[in-house]
Amino acid sequence: MTGESRQAADVLAGTRRLMVVTGAGMSRDSGVPTFRDSLTGLWSQFDPQELATEQAFRANPSRVFGWYLDRWRQVRDIEPHPGYHALTQLREWLDWLTVATQNVDGLHATAGNGNIIELHGLLSAFRCLDEGHPYDSAKLQEIRVPEDGAFDPPECPQCGSPIRPGVVWFGEALPADAVQRAWSAADECDSMLVVGTSSIVYPAAELPEIVLAKGCPVVEINPTATPLSGLVSVSWRERAAVALPALVEHLISATARVQ
Ligand code: APR
Repeated sequence: MTGESRQAADVLAGTRRLMVVTGAGMSRDSGVPTFRDSLTGLWSQFDPQELATEQAFRANPSRVFGWYLDRWRQVRDIEPHPGYHALTQLREWLDWLTVATQNVDGLHATAGNGNIIELHGLLSAFRCLDEGHPYDSAKLQEIRVPEDGAFDPPECPQCGSPIRPGVVWFGEALPADAVQRAWSAADECDSMLVVGTSSIVYPAAELPEIVLAKGCPVVEINPTATPLSGLVSVSWRERAAVALPALVEHLISATARVQ
């Protein structure tokens, strides 16, 4: 193990109640683009004000719906990388492991981790704009999106309002139950792992601050520094798919030794 990985493993060695907070970088190694990486991030190629707000959807529903349909299709068949499976494995070993993710791709659940808090919703949880009636994504499977990427959203069979993706857009509140669960988990955990987030989007960025304020260790895994890096116990400059399996292997063997 390198210096940082050793430090991360040492800091988390005694944990029994671990909260994991993940962002777009967690899925990068599975091939999903992040938002803010300078060359490959979605927001370096697209303007979020034109795609990720309710106003944008109302102004140009076909462009916004087509873009999300395309993103949903890209993530639908993606396999979770070994870092995802490592977290699922770690859950078996600890008394308690809760994942709060800002990601909308559903990869934590695909990797079999059951206790997931989806703070920013799920791409696949299509629903209608006005009433929130759920819409079966199976009906969208066969749609061919034209070259220009625009596709008119279907109408809700119950109320006729347009169908939107199940993500939280800028300016919208996070789902109340997710917030309640995540903030309770931050109170209850004895340590936190923060993986692949730029830690600048609130309220999710507040979660590590809660854990730091109560004096518990926080470990960050991210190839580049973030505003959180200087505050945490260990900031490990590594990719999620490399760091997590190594960390989990170490934690499990350390736990096995004391049992
Ligand atoms: N492993 C771990 N981290 C990585 C990797 C990797 N392989 N590749 C990149 N990263 C890091 C980047 O260094 C960056 O700090 O992942 C982070 C991704 O940051 P953002 O693109 O800002 O994603 P995130 O923090 O999840 O964004 C929060 O902003 O636009 C909204 O709703 C969107 O949920 C998103 C929110």
